[in-house]
Amino acid sequence: MNPMSVCSSSSSSSSSSSSSSNNTKAWIVHGIVAGVSIVVALGARAFLSRSGKFRSRVVGIIPARFASSRFEGKPLVHILGKPMIQRTWERAKLATLLDHIVVATDDDKIAECCRGFGADVIMTSESCRNGTERCNEALQKLEKKYDIVVNIQGDEPLIEPEIIDGVVKALQAAPDAVFSTAVTSLKAEDAFDPNRVKCVVDNQGYAIYFSRGLIPHNKSGKVNLHFPYMLHLGIQSYDSKFLKIYPELQPTPLQLEEDLEQLKVLENGYKMKVIKVDHEAHGVDTPEDVEKIESYMRERNLS
Ligand SMILES: *[C@@H]1O[C@H](CO)[C@@H](O)[C@H](O)[C@H]1NC(C)=O
Ligand SMILES: *[C@@H]1O[C@H](CO)[C@@H](O)[C@H](O)[C@H]1NC(C)=O
Repeated sequence: MNPMSVCSSSSSSSSSSSSSSNNTKAWIVHGIVAGVSIVVALGARAFLSRSGKFRSRVVGIIPARFASSRFEGKPLVHILGKPMIQRTWERAKLATLLDHIVVATDDDKIAECCRGFGADVIMTSESCRNGTERCNEALQKLEKKYDIVVNIQGDEPLIEPEIIDGVVKALQAAPDAVFSTAVTSLKAEDAFDPNRVKCVVDNQGYAIYFSRGLIPHNKSGKVNLHFPYMLHLGIQSYDSKFLKIYPELQPTPLQLEEDLEQLKVLENGYKMKVIKVDHEAHGVDTPEDVEKIESYMRERNLS
């Protein structure tokens, strides 16, 4: 079955048949069809032919590990008196499109803490090499089936619930995409910071490329203060069938060169939907970041 024939929402499929009264929508649907036809990778084609139904069942997974090269025990660090993981979980709870939220961890202390404030916990093995693998293992261990998994990073305790809902909606509305994520405006001072990942998208909001370098590159070699550069945020959601194969996809040349996991999605021909949000990133990567976020919260009377 053509994935487009079950194009998630009735509004978009009806708009394509309705006599172009709504030009914009028809154009968007047409664009999506064109997008499907240029998906070249065999794997992607096989995948798309099996999927395409409306993805209504959604689980949010917060992967959390204790060991960390830069910051041991990070999920349990207190931010204004509350464990960071609890803050992330409380934010996720406010999202309206998640049917279920679980913390996935390999650590008993984290599990105990999370159960203490009321979270569901799935124990995952210590062999998980990254958050995506941990999400996948947790998904396999959940009793219920889900169509979409949102990977909610535990180190963004101020994540807005609207952003979580936004990536879910984006994936539900783009049946040819297997992945969705968010970007926000890049600050000029972060332009050449390789830890700030930049993203460029096509005119329908599908990712074209991610880079640690500044993209697009102005021929002056300088930041163009008038260009709306985009900074990639860590939140991502996946079609759950895609999540099963994602960790097993072989590393690809661009992924290895940039050291950016998500590039192998694009290099294999899969489509990724990107939403633009207004968000000031307050990721906690080091003990120093804790003080920064606390003073930010105090200034704004956030508790
Ligand atoms: C490059 O950046 C400058 C401003 O810094 C801008 O005027 C120009 O249009 C940009 N693009 C090109 C192709 O020069
Ligand atoms: C996670 O780790 C596995 C194994 O090293 C790797 O294949 C995969 O690309 C990594 N990242 C993601 C996003 O799956």
